[in-house]
Amino acid sequence: CNYMIEKSREEILETLTEGLSRLEYRGYDSTGVAVDGDVDGSTLIIKKPGKVAQLKEEIQSTLNFKENNPEFISHAAIAHTRWATHGEPSVRNSHPQRSDINNEFVVVHNGIITNYRELKTLLLKKGAVFESDTDTECIAKLFKLFYDTNLANGIELDFNALTKEVLSELDGSYGLLCRSSHYPGEVIATRKGSPLLIGVKSEKKLKVDFVDVEFTEENEQESELQKLQKMSKHVAQDEEKVYFASLVNNNSAGNLRYSQSRAFLSEDGIPIPIEFFISSDASSVIKHTKKVLFLEDNDVAHIYDGELHIHRFKPKQDGEKVTRPIQTLELELAQIMKGDYNHFMQKEISEQPESTLNTMRGRLDFVNKTVKLGGLTNWLPTIRRARRLLMIACGTSYHSCLATRQIFEELSEIPVSIELASDFLDRKAPVFRDDVCIFVSQSGETADSMLALKHCLERGALTVGIVNTVGSSISRTTHCGVHINAGPEIGVASTKAYTSQYIALVMLALSLSEDRLSCLKKRQTIISDLQHIPEQIKAVLNLETQIKKICEKLQNEKSMLLLGRGYQYASALEGALKIKEISYMHSEGILAGELKHGVLALVDEDLPIIALGTRDALFPKVVSSIEQVIARKGKPIVICNKDDEYWITKKSNQPEIELIEVPHTSDCLQGLLNIIPLQLISYWLAVNKGYDVDFPRNLAKSVTVE
Ligand code: G6P
Repeated sequence: CNYMIEKSREEILETLTEGLSRLEYRGYDSTGVAVDGDVDGSTLIIKKPGKVAQLKEEIQSTLNFKENNPEFISHAAIAHTRWATHGEPSVRNSHPQRSDINNEFVVVHNGIITNYRELKTLLLKKGAVFESDTDTECIAKLFKLFYDTNLANGIELDFNALTKEVLSELDGSYGLLCRSSHYPGEVIATRKGSPLLIGVKSEKKLKVDFVDVEFTEENEQESELQKLQKMSKHVAQDEEKVYFASLVNNNSAGNLRYSQSRAFLSEDGIPIPIEFFISSDASSVIKHTKKVLFLEDNDVAHIYDGELHIHRFKPKQDGEKVTRPIQTLELELAQIMKGDYNHFMQKEISEQPESTLNTMRGRLDFVNKTVKLGGLTNWLPTIRRARRLLMIACGTSYHSCLATRQIFEELSEIPVSIELASDFLDRKAPVFRDDVCIFVSQSGETADSMLALKHCLERGALTVGIVNTVGSSISRTTHCGVHINAGPEIGVASTKAYTSQYIALVMLALSLSEDRLSCLKKRQTIISDLQHIPEQIKAVLNLETQIKKICEKLQNEKSMLLLGRGYQYASALEGALKIKEISYMHSEGILAGELKHGVLALVDEDLPIIALGTRDALFPKVVSSIEQVIARKGKPIVICNKDDEYWITKKSNQPEIELIEVPHTSDCLQGLLNIIPLQLISYWLAVNKGYDVDFPRNLAKSVTVE
């Protein structure tokens, strides 16, 4: 959204598509844009199934920029890359969705409108003609319905007031943008349960470093209006008009505009040229500005005439924050570029020596063998007194909880439950005030985890966030936490976030046991071993040539098992998830102790098996499970410690067994090294099959829907 800055349509579309390509990792089955059309007040929509590159081609072939490239001095445009929830990926289901064939209101939306069927029934009765299978289309059509109804009653709402009427009808989650030919140059951004941030760019220094939230009297007046409207739904059409009319007459201002809005970005009342970049993710904004503010649930941001106004959709609660600070992002463009790598996933796997170091930086003192997690200092006594620790997450983040549960239990002696967020919510699991709930999330935006967090907050538990994305919903909503500092992770299959989450959790377990003399020795060993993890990861990455050869052999397999127990069960599950996600090969992580209770029936000379056979207290048991596989003619690939005598001897007798030798470390850290070959296996299996590693089919990086 730009104001007093001359931009050609080509430049505007370039900004949008470039931003979309940065967001593509979050969803990539179809794309679309809406900009000003040639005729004043008209809106042009261009949509395309597939990736942003295809949208760019479509734009080029639809618009001839040499002949038709108007310049706009003030302009609002919106764009979207989609991960389908309702309706297959196609042109008609892509966003922007529109209110009518004249594109009066156009909307892009992340999230799910759960009452869209009811809304659709209502809108159909009112004569709306639907073009798509999406829930989003209802939003655009509601905008028009309310706009038309108000106008018919002589009420000219401003865009913000109109939006609030629309929002009062929506159930579910949304991060949405709307532009309209009735409000040229304006844009609305609002969120509930789905992230949105606003980048602010100006050549001149901004006068303020925060934006007031506007709680105005009119706000109350308006909610009264909403109440009346809700009531009026049950009465006849004519009576509805009476309600509206009486309200207008009672309103001394004569209209419902927010006249008290502060022109906060102007200097001494003189407007300054300014651009706003609204996005669900900082990565698409960073090229333009590092100054951003994060919207909260139920904020309605209204941008017009170079001003940003943030209104609240809900009445003010006690203790609610009344400003939105403009923060400076510590993100560099290079961090979100592929550089010399073929894929983000490849880059992120290779970055792990540095990313793990960054997680520990400034927190571990390797000389005095101490750990200090700044974000938790004041909370540690409360956490230590917890009656139980609940670790709650999804996907890979859940595996990092599983990988570290044992060391939490051992060092803290507090019972630990680990929970998949969706299942935790399905069960409406009991949570108590003296529980401490730890939320682990790379994005900090996963809807299931976020809802589980709300569930725990409502029950009075202390909540801790272990999050990668600074400023994300989970990091802002939890009481305290640790940023894992892995740097932006773009590849859909999580790799470096896993190893950093793992380390952050181990550091938390170490902090909890600071005052326990009985674990002093163990703590010191772990801290010393953590120091060597980055260089040991580097050593494992050097096994890539061997791993590529193994992948060539596995190339045509249909299915694979990964066996592990104790600490290595998490590695087996996480390895299997990586292989499924990007190489589409069926793979299953098996708890080695359960092998004999069913899975052994699958084992024969053909089924590929990867076994995690590194040394820890369970080594004899692991060996026994792997021997059971070998006895059934299985030829496992064993991840073992370097120069391990047992496995070297075994291989000399049975050369068909493949060994991947990794360095040795503390039992609770071994998973950090064992996961690396599995990440590489998944990567090379997918590359060899010609799959799109960074964009696996049907998946999205950040799942902001339930
Ligand atoms: C999605 C991603 C996974 C990720 C999971 C949890 O499924 O594809 O890579 O592990 O969400 O995401 P979070 O951001 O909460 O860690």
